[in-house]
Amino acid sequence: MRAIVLLCLLHAAFAEWPSLWQSLKSVDEPKNVCEEPYSCSCCLILQQVSNLSSHINSTLNELDKEYSQTLQQLSKFEASRTAFSVALQYSSFRCNGPQPGDFTVIYKEVFLNLGGRYDVDTGIFTALYPGVYTFALTIHSDAGAAGSLLAACAELLLNSNVVASLNEVNNQDQEDGATIAVVLQLNATDQVAVNMPRGCSLCDDNNHYNTFSGFLLFATN
Ligand SMILES: *[C@@H]1O[C@H](CO)[C@@H](O)[C@H](O)[C@H]1NC(C)=O
Ligand SMILES: *[C@@H]1O[C@H](CO)[C@@H](O)[C@H](O)[C@H]1NC(C)=O
Ligand SMILES: *[C@@H]1O[C@H](CO)[C@@H](O)[C@H](O)[C@H]1NC(C)=O
Repeated sequence: MRAIVLLCLLHAAFAEWPSLWQSLKSVDEPKNVCEEPYSCSCCLILQQVSNLSSHINSTLNELDKEYSQTLQQLSKFEASRTAFSVALQYSSFRCNGPQPGDFTVIYKEVFLNLGGRYDVDTGIFTALYPGVYTFALTIHSDAGAAGSLLAACAELLLNSNVVASLNEVNNQDQEDGATIAVVLQLNATDQVAVNMPRGCSLCDDNNHYNTFSGFLLFATN
């Protein structure tokens, strides 16, 4: 850029001093120099450089803006990471139930609780970010003896409303399991939990036949 300006000034100097003065005055505004016919080719170069430089400047400004927007979205995405996977924590075989009434299952074995939204004391998952979430519930029960009543049953609750139920209640199987997988759109503070209705019984040992998992598929808003 400096070399081109110098060339132009030299060009002008060979012509006459007033135009050198004119050139010096107009270095910042190359378009004016173009009025001088002898400096026209230099002036065009200056114009092109100036055009190019403003093009680069505006492109960089644009990229800068998009970059900071991307960074913002990325940090929002990272902050919203939510995933939990929990299980019943029984070291040896035992059953929880049958209960006399509704009973919230509290899973104490925590495989993962990214974001800390599953409460190990209450068994309740509370969404922090509005978004689309996936939940999976697997239950297992054992009647204890062939011909006894098996009651492998539970419900997935969203804000105390039943979303889906599992109901393996019969005298044919001594033991059985069942699974629910759902995708739900949640608002912030919505709560998801597992309820064992009256008479249901869930059994486990250290094999983790009973699991409850959920994760944020993507945040909305
Ligand atoms: C510089 O840009 C202006 C406005 O876009 C245009 O009129 C002019 O022809 C361009 N000059 C050169 C040398 O490209
Ligand atoms: C580049 O763009 C910024 C933001 O629009 C502006 O403030 C600055 O003066 C420009 N620089 C040049 C050399 O054009
Ligand atoms: C989320 O909020 C919207 C708007 O208030 C409401 O219509 C919808 O039922 C809510 N969904 C849940 C799962 O709470």
